[in-house]
Amino acid sequence: MSLPLHIGFIMDGNGRWAQGKGLPRKMGHEAGAKALEKIIDHCRTIGIQCATFYAFSTENWSRPKEEVDALMSLLDRYIAELHRKISSGEADVYKDVQIRFVGDLSVFSEERYSRIRELENLTDKPHSRLRINIAINYGGRNEIVSAVNRFIAENPGRPLTEKDISLRLYTEGCSDPDLIIRTAGEMRLSNFLIWQSAYAEYYSSPVYWPDFTPKELDIALEAFSKRTRKFGNVAK
Ligand code: IPE
Ligand code: IPE
Ligand code: MG
Repeated sequence: MSLPLHIGFIMDGNGRWAQGKGLPRKMGHEAGAKALEKIIDHCRTIGIQCATFYAFSTENWSRPKEEVDALMSLLDRYIAELHRKISSGEADVYKDVQIRFVGDLSVFSEERYSRIRELENLTDKPHSRLRINIAINYGGRNEIVSAVNRFIAENPGRPLTEKDISLRLYTEGCSDPDLIIRTAGEMRLSNFLIWQSAYAEYYSSPVYWPDFTPKELDIALEAFSKRTRKFGNVAK
């Protein structure tokens, strides 16, 4: 079975999962964070090289303050828990896993920002098996604009190439995603990896993210292995 090297996950449906159970939406986000660990473990076990998880978009700030606050509090607890698990070596899940937070991190407080960088540094090992990108305050358009601005500052007057942009994206070091999976039955990108996924295959899973198990991931991978990727050419 041909496996994708890089998978992008649009983790959608946390709110509906909770509401369907008569719970507050924030409980859906808590359950979503638990589902994430099992998926990371599975990606590592089956040999995926890179996985990018959409956790908070540049547009998500428009949600009610209560929900944004709950998401930020969850993020802080998630970072602290990962730090504890990785530094104690207690969880095999993160063994040889390199973690990166991708997005415009400049909006976060200095404290949150330095905790993020500390956690990333803790996972920097020369031969990691899997790279995880957790996208927070991430927007594909914002990412392209910041790549272009960086290029202009570094190379005044030189015309820009596609490679110049690719090399300055947050996902630098990962190949372009081969597969984008969105849960909750939705079929849109919502500003996720819009440059990188030019030739990605899309898969929409009907289940809400908290119910997205390794078994559901295997179903998506099975579907992916049956796709014919042509990249503009004719089928071979
Ligand atoms: C995805 O779940 C998580 C974030 C966007 C932070 P949602 O919160 O979008 O869940 P639904 O789409 O409202 O069910
Ligand atoms: C996309 O989900 C963002 C994340 C999963 C973090 P949304 O639920 O915010 O997207 P829309 O608003 O339905 O397009
Ligand atoms: Mg949603």
